[in-house]
Amino acid sequence: MQKLLAELAPAGPDYELARAIDPTRLPAHIAIIMDGNGRWAKNRHLPRVSGHRAGVQAVRTTVETSAQLGIEALTLYAFSMENWKRPRAEVETLWRLLRHYLGAELPTMMKHGIRFSAIGRVDALPAMVRGELDEVIRRTEHNDGLRLNLAINYGGRAEIVDAVKALLEDVRAGQAEIDEAAISARLYTAGMPDPDLLIRTSGEMRVSNFLLWQIAYAELYVTHTLWPDFTRAELLEAILDYQRRDRRFGGLGSPVPSGDAWMEPAGVRVR
Ligand code: IPE
Ligand code: IPE
Ligand code: MG
Repeated sequence: MQKLLAELAPAGPDYELARAIDPTRLPAHIAIIMDGNGRWAKNRHLPRVSGHRAGVQAVRTTVETSAQLGIEALTLYAFSMENWKRPRAEVETLWRLLRHYLGAELPTMMKHGIRFSAIGRVDALPAMVRGELDEVIRRTEHNDGLRLNLAINYGGRAEIVDAVKALLEDVRAGQAEIDEAAISARLYTAGMPDPDLLIRTSGEMRVSNFLLWQIAYAELYVTHTLWPDFTRAELLEAILDYQRRDRRFGGLGSPVPSGDAWMEPAGVRVR
């Protein structure tokens, strides 16, 4: 948080927004469905791929701002398993852009101590993309700042299938029991907090197979802004909106007098 304020000029447009954020109640994990690149391009009579190109700047801004705020994890949905249905030329442009982004952003990731991971069935990606991904993962693995996950060839149901397969193997070997924690521990996001805030740009009111298990209690923020137009100000607005929500998790909201509830907050144990 202090890093962000230090970066912003006190008279600048985002300074007051940043100051309004309560640094003690930041979302630990923000997940974003970056949607609307194609419509952004169409509105300008440009080919769809120009929208993807323009979207890269919004990715940079979002990643850097999240790191400066001190957010623990940021997961960006870059390519779904269903996106293979798109024309080959569009998909290939996305791989080229991704490779370029990874190479160009490594210095920024190092500067902010960002630890990069890819989530999804990355083995199925073209070799040139995998090589660059592996390189950035390796170079950033000892960083201890923001955890940046890029969801590529990602599907929420496929992730659950993979987790269940891994769990069954461990169960058969007598090394695990089937419960919620055991499934969470075998997802691509193992060890990270579940997203507190899920942002979707472009106004679509759906989750499109993203982090299905992890978003059970995420707060949703849908904006009509198309992804290439998503700014630092809008990210800060989304966080402020999140901080105004009353997260009840099935209870009656805070504060619940201690010792007065039947269940633990997670709803797993009756007193
Ligand atoms: C999101 O923008 C980026 C990807 C899915 C890769 P879209 O390409 O889906 O843009 P719209 O939804 O067609 O406007
Ligand atoms: C979701 O957007 C996937 C990504 C942002 C990568 P889509 O544009 O693919 O989603 P639908 O088709 O509108 O549900
Ligand atoms: Mg879309």
